[in-house]
Formats: sequence, C-alpha cells, structure tokens
Amino acid sequence: MSTPDVARKPLNLHRLREMHQQGEKITMLTSYDAMSARLVDDAGVDCILVGDSLGMIVQGHTSTVPVSMTDMVYHTRCVARGNRTAWVVGDLPFGSYQESREQALRSSVELMQAGAQMVKLEGGGWTAETVHFLTERGIPVCAHLGLTPQSVHALGGYRIQGRDQAGADTMRRHATELAQAGAAMMVLELMPSAVAALVQADNPGMITIGIGAGSSTAGQVLVLHDMLHITRGKLPRFVRNFMLEGGSIEDAVRRYVADVKGGRFPDESLHAY
Ligand code: KIV
Repeated sequence: MSTPDVARKPLNLHRLREMHQQGEKITMLTSYDAMSARLVDDAGVDCILVGDSLGMIVQGHTSTVPVSMTDMVYHTRCVARGNRTAWVVGDLPFGSYQESREQALRSSVELMQAGAQMVKLEGGGWTAETVHFLTERGIPVCAHLGLTPQSVHALGGYRIQGRDQAGADTMRRHATELAQAGAAMMVLELMPSAVAALVQADNPGMITIGIGAGSSTAGQVLVLHDMLHITRGKLPRFVRNFMLEGGSIEDAVRRYVADVKGGRFPDESLHAY
C-alpha cells in the first residue's frame, strides 16, 4: 500500500466550494465501513457517501427501501472512525424524512451525531421546504434528483429520467428550488448529459455530483463495489471497472480520482446518455 497524503487537511464545505469555483472536479465514492473509508480517504477521494445503497451491497436487498435509520447510523459511525480527511455525506433512508420537517431534522441530527457532515435526501418539489428547514438549522444538505432509488417502485424501475421535455423541465425547476432552499450539493443520477449540463448551468454555484449524468457536473460519484466490479453481473453503462487497469483496490481508486480530476471519466461516448 502506498502512503496517504498526511498533509491533506480535512475537507470542508468552504474548500469544496472553492474547488468547484476553480474548476477542479470533485470526487466521491461510497463507503459503508471503517476499512474502506480509510482506503478511499488515503487514495485522495474528496467525499465519502455513506449511501443507502448499502441495502443492496451489504444487506442483499433488491432495493434501498428496507434500509433503516439504525442501519445508517451504524454504518456512518463505522465510516467516521476510518475516515480522516474526506467530507462525509450520510444518506437519510426511506421513511426518515418524508413525514415532516421535524422528522427530517431529528433524523439528520442522528446522522450528524454519528459522524456525517452533510445529509442527503432524495426528490424535488416538496423537499425544498425540508431542505430550507434543515439548512437554516445548520445542517448542510445534499439533494438528489433524477433516478431516486427510494422511489423505484413509483418510477417503475431503474430508468433514465428527464428524457422528455416535460421531465427535463421539471428536473430543472426542482434543482433551482433546491438551490434556493440552501442545498449546497446535488447528486444527479441517471439522466441525459444535456439535462445535467443545464441543471449545472442554471445553478452555477451548486456542487452537482453526477452518476450516469455525463461529464458536465462539478463532480462524480460511483458505488465503490461497482467501480471495483466486485458486484455480480453486468455493470451499468455509466460505470467503469477501474480494477481492470489497476493492480490493487487502492490503485483502482487512485485511478478513479486521477481520471475524474483529469476529465477522462466519464467519457461521453462510453458512459453517458
Ligand atoms: O446510495 C447511494 O449509494 C447513492 C449513490 C448511488 C448516489 O445514492
């Protein structure tokens, strides 16, 4: 294993905004445990997402719907222990924020006390009011538009979103409302590159983090197990198997960081819609 950059200071929102303003791409990977958090942090990833994708990757469910707050708090604690410098985003699981702004606040406080520095919630429209409520109370929020996996049953499967004009317009409107409500970061999942580019252009200060959303976003996120291809079956189009080129997990993660920062991943001709 190569040595971590011991000079790297813990990242904060101010620094992430500065990086975005200066045109430096922001890297994010998922982690659910202390060891992978340490590895990802040592390899220079800017942000760790304790994603509720752990429901599928760790727990073996077919969706993220069954993941509970207890699960998210446990995994956030594990990640926080392993991480040293990366910015930690914790997913609010299905059912932990939809009921009321107060429920969202209570769930966010639990995640922050477990070690998250920012919480992520899915969806647009009604979520803007919740985002405003949380950010006013000192909780940094990452929004999530496009394919929102907690709504997989309502969406009719894991499909590309915003393909038609009406869908793209709604997405842009929701993104702007969320930006105005105070969201500092926004995951854009599975949508045409052109739509993600418009969302970013509409909201230049927003740190958009794409996954299957092309190369115009401020940063990129992948599920760690996908980019190492230790998940079974065929990888989705937007994932690159970085293990094919690297001899070790750490090398693969370092290549991911270098290729996102260098604008080589994602490749519009290979990984975009
Ligand atoms: O839960 C997760 O890992 C996510 C990413 C796919 C963005 O939300």
